[in-house]
Amino acid sequence: MDQLKARFKEKALPMASELKAFVKANAGVKIDSVSVAQVFTGMKGVKSLITETSQLSADHGIRFRGYSIPELKKVLPQANGDTEPLPEGIFWLMLTGDLPTADEVAWLSKEWANRSDVPQHVFDVLDTFPTDAHPMTQFSVAILSLQTTSVFAAAYKDGINKKEYWDPMYEDAMNLIAKLPRIAAYIYRRSFHNGEHIAPDKNLDWAANFAQMMGVKDPEFKSLMRLYLTIHADHEGGNASAHSTHLTGSTLSDVYYSLSSGMNALAGPLHGLANQEVIRWVLNMRKELGKDRPSQDEIRQYVIDTLDGGRVVPGYGHAVLRIPDPRFTAQLEYCKAHFPDDELVNVIWDIYAVAPAVIKEKKPNVKSPNPNVDAHSGATLMHYGVTEYNFYTVLFGVSRALGVLASLCWDRALGFGIERPKSVTIDMLQQLVAASKETEAESVA
Ligand SMILES: CC(C)(COP(=O)(O)OP(=O)(O)OC[C@H]1O[C@@H](n2cnc3c(N)ncnc32)[C@H](O)[C@@H]1OP(=O)(O)O)[C@@H](O)C(=O)NCCC(=O)NCCS
Repeated sequence: MDQLKARFKEKALPMASELKAFVKANAGVKIDSVSVAQVFTGMKGVKSLITETSQLSADHGIRFRGYSIPELKKVLPQANGDTEPLPEGIFWLMLTGDLPTADEVAWLSKEWANRSDVPQHVFDVLDTFPTDAHPMTQFSVAILSLQTTSVFAAAYKDGINKKEYWDPMYEDAMNLIAKLPRIAAYIYRRSFHNGEHIAPDKNLDWAANFAQMMGVKDPEFKSLMRLYLTIHADHEGGNASAHSTHLTGSTLSDVYYSLSSGMNALAGPLHGLANQEVIRWVLNMRKELGKDRPSQDEIRQYVIDTLDGGRVVPGYGHAVLRIPDPRFTAQLEYCKAHFPDDELVNVIWDIYAVAPAVIKEKKPNVKSPNPNVDAHSGATLMHYGVTEYNFYTVLFGVSRALGVLASLCWDRALGFGIERPKSVTIDMLQQLVAASKETEAESVA
């Protein structure tokens, strides 16, 4: 270990234990209006953001402009002959607060198709990457490389009035969303299918065109993609990808800088990357046990071993939800309706049957041992032959763009300012806690 690293280790590790003990002992003490525990955990639960597009309730899950996922499945327009909602509809709903008509959704499909051409330099940038570069790295860089086309950046340079910011922001958001399926499919085909690309079909809706460009043969996959891209679109404003997008956008960075930043947050294993981690974990379990359909007892033991190894069980737990994630349930219901006997899907259901109790028992402080959206999505994709699990978070990202970019339009329309929370040093925190306790003692006396 070099001398600087050794000095850092000597300082930081004891400090980490000391701080954890301090926070535990003073978790409820209020510093201004937030508790010490909230300072330590990135303001968890503190109401300090405005997000119009959706609201998350711990006990009911996500509602997009008031509509739950089962309700959306009934009220959003669908493609001819399909039973799943079109993601164009959720974008319209999130951006305007109104349910779109079938004609409005058809217009939006066409509008995105018209804006979907990707400049050659974006493909050139991607082609400089080794094909085994993580797809999320490629996705984030591709989004960033589109920044050269920003309408907002050009308008800002020309001195646009701040009251008009929302207008070029909307244009950029629409242009970027329109291009994401092409970019994502390009990454998929170059990374996993020898660079044999499939031309877009501009007559298809946004999700179906994406499915087609990925090259998945089963026509039913288009239906799954419509559902998938709808339910992953938003989870109110405080989750890491939404918050990163919003924070970056608060500096008046355009949608390209902002979404790229949001995608970098989504790429973390505690956030969106959990969808790939779930399948990696399940496939490792199958390999280690030497069987495709382990018993529930074997799964229970594998969960215990994971927890004993100081690792998380991917796909379980949530910072806000205290129930099984309705996005998990939506996928479960889809699989029950379409392929209830799929072996891998049944393993996912067996994990669901045993994991929550084990997690609760081994980690008594866990707030929710229930499955989240990522516990199910990989197995559903595997059914259609999308086995390249390193790609899964890109699919999540294409969908998440809908919510966070609708929100960015609102941020600029409402004139939100630059974000700047106050940080404190550990010393300051200790002094603030001492002062707060003193004031409390005086008021009691
Ligand atoms: C989502 C997640 C990051 C939320 O974290 P959080 O808000 O800190 O959750 P909690 O307050 O319930 O965590 C309390 C403790 O339980 C642990 N915990 C939570 N979920 C866990 C899981 N699935 N497996 C193991 N431990 C878990 C936390 O790491 C924490 O441990 P610590 O006291 O040693 O620091 C967490 O549940 C997790 O890591 N899940 C697995 C990854 C995942 O599926 N992410 C996708 C989320 S949509």
